Amino acid sequence: MNASRTATTSGSDADLEVRIRRLHRRDLNRTWEFLKLVFREVNRTTVEYQRPRSKKRFLEVYEEKGIEQLLFVAGATAGAKERIVGYAECALAILGTDNWMNERYFRMRDMRPLFVEELAVHPDFQGRGLGSFVLDQLEHLARLRGCTHLVLEVAENNNNALKFYRTRSFYKLDAAVFLAKKVVNEAELLPPRPLSKRTKAAVPVAVPPVVLPTDDPQAAPELAPARPVKARAKRAATPRKTRAKAETSS
Ligand SMILES: CC(C)(COP(=O)(O)OP(=O)(O)OC[C@H]1O[C@@H](n2cnc3c(N)ncnc32)[C@H](O)[C@@H]1OP(=O)(O)O)[C@@H](O)C(=O)NCCC(=O)NCCS
Repeated sequence: MNASRTATTSGSDADLEVRIRRLHRRDLNRTWEFLKLVFREVNRTTVEYQRPRSKKRFLEVYEEKGIEQLLFVAGATAGAKERIVGYAECALAILGTDNWMNERYFRMRDMRPLFVEELAVHPDFQGRGLGSFVLDQLEHLARLRGCTHLVLEVAENNNNALKFYRTRSFYKLDAAVFLAKKVVNEAELLPPRPLSKRTKAAVPVAVPPVVLPTDDPQAAPELAPARPVKARAKRAATPRKTRAKAETSS
């Protein structure tokens, strides 16, 4: 597959050429830092992490089969250092143990989705057509892989991203909506209460002494006291053998 597509994004500062390449192991730390930066603001306003949730998970993703991770880079010409300006991550199957996507939903509707796990553009390069370039690349991959749809998850209050997708013909599937209801809360401890005045002067009342059971082991012995036992009536002096016989035959 050709891994070096380019696009020119025009901006007020300069024309900038962006190239696509696959993510390598040596890019992992830099890409993680890039993603943290891109999602910092977004993650402040959404209930669910708009990924990536943790560096650990991001590193695991690199080892997983079936996930495509693409870097969009600028520079790296005439001695200039390459700069990560965009990132895309997609998969043909629902991957990861933390994913609650229902694969049957798509199968029953004859949909073969390309799941877009991540789409990110550096804040300094947003609004210059780079997001569209990333999306074009994903759609291109989807077509090549025989997919029928791009499927992704976006928070409803991620307004920039939502507007971006909506104007590019994305429509809403049955998606989770986070609902909340304010619980009217009462303090656990009751409020202070004024006490009533004592009406009479306290008169001491004669109370009979109460006798409580004692713990003294001497006073309550564990074993019952000795009890006289009746003496057993004496047997007739019969020889042992004869007695045994008489007992079995009776
Ligand atoms: C959503 C995102 C990928 C769009 O990338 P982009 O490079 O700004 O996109 P483009 O320049 O191709 O398109 C800009 C369009 O997106 C909208 N837009 C989104 N963010 C914008 C921003 N910060 N500045 C200007 N326009 C923005 C514009 O309204 C414009 O709409 P139009 O072209 O339909 O009129 C990018 O804003 C981003 O990475 N956001 C943070 C991460 C994120 O939320 N990702 C999606 C998670 S599901």
